[in-house]
Amino acid sequence: MSPHSNILRLLALLPVLGLYAAPIQLTAHLRQSNLTALESTFWEIADPKSPRYLNHLSLPEVAELIGASSEDIDSAAAFFAEAGGYDITVSNLRDAVTASFDGKPDVELTAKGLPRKSTHPSAVEFLVRHDDLPASTTTTTTTSSPSPLKIAASSDDSSPSYTISNIKEAYGIPTDYQATHPDTTQMVWGPGTFGYSKAKLEAHKIKEAPLINMDKVEFWTENHGTSGGDNFGEGQLDVDMITSFGLNVTTLVANTNTSASTEETTGFGAALLNFLTDLSSREEVPHVLSMSLGSLSSASCNLLCSEAVKMGIALTDCQAYISEQRQVCMYLSDDQSDRINTALQVLGARGVTIMGSSGDGGSHFSFGPFQGSGDDSAIADALNEVSCKFQMPVFPTASPYVLSIGGEMWEGNSKHPVTWAGYGGGSGAGFSVQFEAPPHQKSSSTVSDYLKKPGMPPTSSYNANNRAYPDMSAVGVMGTSQSCPITAGIWSLITDIRLNNGLPPLGFVAPRLWQVAEEYPGEAFEDIIGGNSNTSCSNGFPATDGWDANTGFGRPIWDGFVKHFAADDVHD
Ligand SMILES: *[C@@H]1O[C@H](CO)[C@@H](O)[C@H](O)[C@H]1NC(C)=O
Ligand SMILES: *[C@@H]1O[C@H](CO)[C@@H](O)[C@H](O)[C@H]1NC(C)=O
Ligand SMILES: *[C@@H]1O[C@H](CO)[C@@H](O)[C@H](O)[C@H]1NC(C)=O
Ligand SMILES: *[C@@H]1O[C@H](CO)[C@@H](O)[C@H](O)[C@H]1NC(C)=O
Repeated sequence: MSPHSNILRLLALLPVLGLYAAPIQLTAHLRQSNLTALESTFWEIADPKSPRYLNHLSLPEVAELIGASSEDIDSAAAFFAEAGGYDITVSNLRDAVTASFDGKPDVELTAKGLPRKSTHPSAVEFLVRHDDLPASTTTTTTTSSPSPLKIAASSDDSSPSYTISNIKEAYGIPTDYQATHPDTTQMVWGPGTFGYSKAKLEAHKIKEAPLINMDKVEFWTENHGTSGGDNFGEGQLDVDMITSFGLNVTTLVANTNTSASTEETTGFGAALLNFLTDLSSREEVPHVLSMSLGSLSSASCNLLCSEAVKMGIALTDCQAYISEQRQVCMYLSDDQSDRINTALQVLGARGVTIMGSSGDGGSHFSFGPFQGSGDDSAIADALNEVSCKFQMPVFPTASPYVLSIGGEMWEGNSKHPVTWAGYGGGSGAGFSVQFEAPPHQKSSSTVSDYLKKPGMPPTSSYNANNRAYPDMSAVGVMGTSQSCPITAGIWSLITDIRLNNGLPPLGFVAPRLWQVAEEYPGEAFEDIIGGNSNTSCSNGFPATDGWDANTGFGRPIWDGFVKHFAADDVHD
């Protein structure tokens, strides 16, 4: 995730400025069918012990399973037509209907310019609006966060040098190792100003990774993001890292710019939902998807305010306060997160390997403690107390359907990895508040054995039965926004070997990863011991021997990756 900075609340103004500059598009996400069957199919396809392992679903197969009923599709189409919509289309997955409008839809609208819930058919679960944001708001974010690159460059002479070749050496990856299959594809994503500049990538190539193939880096979307914005720096870091590690892999840079999509606030959740549902409905999907952005989960945010209320803070004041904090509470609801999870399952079942940064705020924060002045300081104090009393997971990385990637840094030299900490935060870690542990965590004693070790936070601060993260780690001295695309590039190289050998891509790899790490300790992952997710609180999850809720199984060992993930026969 990108480092926190205390700039601009200005983007909160966007919905007001952007209201209906015609033409616009509305997408209605419809109630899907057979979600229980989708989930069990997803796990079977991802489980190396299942007969369905790696039998990925085709797009029509998923549509057949989860597509909305014809009546529901007709009701959404009729609703749009009555509101003046035209060019009405149904998504390939048959779970969304989109229409264009010249100006305002002829129906009662919310303050955010979306049709009120009472006006639309019950089959419509979420509406997302797409249109052009006013140009002025996309170019004013020049005072963005401290550039991660600047921080790295100012490290003194005694600190280790985290160059691309040093990181590859630490993991045993030959510096010049490149993908050779023409189809291998990796993608990075973000909303708002998320993008990259060819000139900056060229400069990075010259300095650190001369074998980056510039011809294989493309924008996946028409919108390219804007230089100067916060997410532009994020996009650049993602592209620099994923292309340096996934050398010669086709790299797609995806940007979502729905009207409400900002780098802050709940527009982010809308953009993530929109992106994942759109991608999961495409004919062509990438093999690997890296997502560096996120914030506290919807359940963490609900917990924050429900606990603050017990301390005498008014619920509305708490909600107003957290909605103004940058990149802290970016999801609308638990329902929205569930819908995002469904899209993640579809993508995994179709063979996409998806990973998310574990976050930069340890196990208590999105980034760092809350700050406030005047009336706000009481709220900030209360929220900091609540944040330290509980572990506060972030999303999407705490989703059971994402491979969660933590951060490491080196003490003295590359042979001594510890948990990454910096910017007043540290590598994200912990247990989901809202999602159960996935089958591969439930069926092994790895997590419960870890929790028996000394130095654990109070058991009342987290739910030991829920999804534990991260799964693994890589260098994250620029935040876990760095470790995630590094890891993604490495999984792309493994995918490339598989494609060359006529094997399917790995899809959702976490169950196999856990199995390999448990059965062959020390072969594919080098344990990271040292560090804690406590950041500014007195409790957190320590990095210990073996898997821990801080660095996962540790960092990659290339030879072990090739042995255990590039071929399938070793597991028979
Ligand atoms: C999917 O749902 C439909 C009804 O919406 C049902 O007719 C069908 O049998 C279900 N398929 C599976 C595989 O569960
Ligand atoms: C959003 O994308 C469209 C093209 O897909 C583009 O015309 C528009 O300018 C973009 N908006 C912003 C704010 O970049
Ligand atoms: C890069 O990939 C292409 C396939 O797209 C392959 O033909 C080429 O040999 C690869 N380059 C190197 C240096 O391996
Ligand atoms: C966090 O944990 C580390 C290691 O266990 C400890 O040294 C440090 O004092 C703790 N920080 C706080 C704020 O308690």
